[in-house]
Amino acid sequence: MAYNWYPGHMKKAYRAMEEDLKVIDLLIELLDARAPYSTRNPDIDTLGRGKARLILLNKADLADKSMTEEWLNYFKKKSLTVMKLDARSSKDIRPLQAAVEEACKEKRERDRKRGIINRPVRAMVVGIPNVGKSTLINSYAKRAATKTGNKPGVTKGKQWIRLGQGLELLDTPGILWGRIEDEEAGFRLALLGSMNDEILNRQELCIRFIRLMQESHLEALRRAYDITGEMGPLEALNSAALKRNALKKGGLPDTDKAVGFILDDFRSGRLGAITLDRAAEA
Ligand code: G4P
Repeated sequence: MAYNWYPGHMKKAYRAMEEDLKVIDLLIELLDARAPYSTRNPDIDTLGRGKARLILLNKADLADKSMTEEWLNYFKKKSLTVMKLDARSSKDIRPLQAAVEEACKEKRERDRKRGIINRPVRAMVVGIPNVGKSTLINSYAKRAATKTGNKPGVTKGKQWIRLGQGLELLDTPGILWGRIEDEEAGFRLALLGSMNDEILNRQELCIRFIRLMQESHLEALRRAYDITGEMGPLEALNSAALKRNALKKGGLPDTDKAVGFILDDFRSGRLGAITLDRAAEA
């Protein structure tokens, strides 16, 4: 199956974002901590040229902790400011302010040398679907002092969330696509729910996920669904269905239901903290 779908409405959203980017000083790039390679837009360095940059590894609560540390080091080695995050958690917002300041340090210094004082840094959140962009903006907005009106050069109707310490955040995120040209990365994006499930063959996706888990996290599969390393795809789905008592009329295991709850279980972390991308392979 090819996972390289890129719908027309995203192309439109992309062009709108390019407009917004013209007035942005700081690009806040949101990645999924479980797949920082696959969820990273391949053109992001071009988009972010000349801007201050901050990378956030979001959903860190769902990711393998030691692998997240490896990813943090990976980005630090590239001289990028990076932090891990749970965008839903209010306690992560304060350290986020510090990371934002760190990312803007050079820009503020440049402004100061040019005699520009008190000019706020304008920031924008960008990322692929489902990485937590809206969640982050909402968490931020709750702390915001005021919302400001339209700014020249920015699409009408957009608002800026004014934060302390001279920072303004655009209230609409930029929507990007992940590394869809890479088949394995595309599979991981589908698994994370960053592609529209309706266009995917969910059963095929789930079977591929089970195979991956049989190689790397067999214990989690055994615990949740009594799936062993020797089971073939159908046997594994039957086992999961029986374990959860998902039965069709006549008492046969309902494998469609099993596909649904297995993907759900992974996405919501019920199978444990699982990271799909390795920093060493990026
Ligand atoms: P988007 O704007 O980038 O498309 O993503 P959005 O904020 O809508 O978040 C997608 C889903 O991810 C939401 O769950 C949201 O709650 C969840 N989420 C965001 N950040 C984090 C995080 O750091 N950790 C975890 N565990 N989840 C996170 P949902 O089930 O689709 O919606 P909801 O029912 O939670 O509102």
